[in-house]
Amino acid sequence: MTMTTDAAAAQGEAAGKPVWSSQLGFILAAAGSAVGLGNIWKFPYMTGENGGGAFVLVYLGCIALVGIPALMTEMLVGRRGGHSPIQSVRDVVAEARAPRAWGWIGIISTLAAFLTLAFYSVVAGWAMPFVGHSIAGFDAADPEAVQALFPNLLAAPDQLLMWHTVFMVMTIFISARGINRGIEAAVKVMMPTLVLILMLLIGYSAVMNMDSLRQAVVFLFRPNFGALTTESTLSALGHAFFTLSLASGSMLAYGSYLSKSTPIVRTAVTVAAVDTAVALMAGLAIFPLVFQYGMEPAAGPGLVFATLPLAFAQMPGGDILGPVFFILLVIAAWTSSLSMIESVVEWLQEKGIGRTASAILAGGAAWALGILCLLSLNVMSGFAPLSFIPALEDKGMMDALDYIVTNVLMPLGALALAIFVGYIMPKDALRDELSTSARAFGIVRGMIRTITPIGILVIFLTNLI
Ligand code: TRP
Repeated sequence: MTMTTDAAAAQGEAAGKPVWSSQLGFILAAAGSAVGLGNIWKFPYMTGENGGGAFVLVYLGCIALVGIPALMTEMLVGRRGGHSPIQSVRDVVAEARAPRAWGWIGIISTLAAFLTLAFYSVVAGWAMPFVGHSIAGFDAADPEAVQALFPNLLAAPDQLLMWHTVFMVMTIFISARGINRGIEAAVKVMMPTLVLILMLLIGYSAVMNMDSLRQAVVFLFRPNFGALTTESTLSALGHAFFTLSLASGSMLAYGSYLSKSTPIVRTAVTVAAVDTAVALMAGLAIFPLVFQYGMEPAAGPGLVFATLPLAFAQMPGGDILGPVFFILLVIAAWTSSLSMIESVVEWLQEKGIGRTASAILAGGAAWALGILCLLSLNVMSGFAPLSFIPALEDKGMMDALDYIVTNVLMPLGALALAIFVGYIMPKDALRDELSTSARAFGIVRGMIRTITPIGILVIFLTNLI
């Protein structure tokens, strides 16, 4: 392991290992991973449930102090290893002559990505029938029927299965085409489209009902600390991890295709900034509609599937904006699922399996697990598979997976990785990877050694007590 990363990259390229064709390509792919259902579906409803502005502030703090440094650790370990998350972590651990147990970080991460893909595909599948519903037009005269669409969908396993399958096939299809011809080509079209759609939606509110846009701005940005609980602080941190695709192999895997010349510090900040901007834009796109039509911002997971359709039913131009919004959701989810499947695909490829077969295998396995998730929404709704664990007592398959991944696997993996990079990885190796000014290096390393792990730990402990 004395080989420099440049030499490793050159060797990798010679061996047919792909590299992002440009920095922009990587930024779009990583931002595509980060920007997902987490931003457009989860963030607005979490903000609604946790009282708005104060939650947003805590979330921004978590992104800046914990999320960004953690994002850097993943990109740099991925690039230094140059392999799948499982192998890259092993390589970097070997290079540091550290105990092999650290290698578990790669395994935990890949597992988190795989489990996430299973339920993520189910949720992404919810958005697709709504593209159709909104093209057909929501019936303003019958609000009850509009609101029933979502619960009816959740109650119909055949529908859920069909859309879950469609979404997984879409994911496998792009993933099978590889890093450059698949992922990079896709995100170059999809990410600009996504931003355009958000601007269109916000622009609509600015033109049609400036007052509710103003109300949305107040809701998102005026902190009301009374509404902040320990639990909402914990979910802000958990969400910061989820939305940056951290501790889940995605960024380790994407980092492994990075060229040595890409500046990690600046790139990580850019990716986090794009992700945060998109989350706030989603809030600014969604809440004006919610307020305009006198609806409840704290509507929970049903916010975009049950509440918004009512707004689309009533507003002028809703038959155009509705489909556009749900297409936005599908695109956002698609660019994320590409990154979840990548950690597993890259690992299978290392086992000598071809790219297409790897994508089919990884996607197929996640698809099968996803079926259990979607059944937990209806036929098996009373069944809590992990009820012997107190925190999961009343959680069905889907909620249990979401809980385990977001609140356990991810913080644990990120904590271990921050400690490893901050205290165990040789300082020179870290400096070599970050290749930034001495001052910036000091600050970044200092954060990775202190605020980042402490932040994760404190929230972890508060949760236990
Ligand atoms: N960050 C994505 C979102 O906000 C989700 C995501 C992408 C993810 N890759 C991941 C979540 C890996 C967990 C694990 O929707």
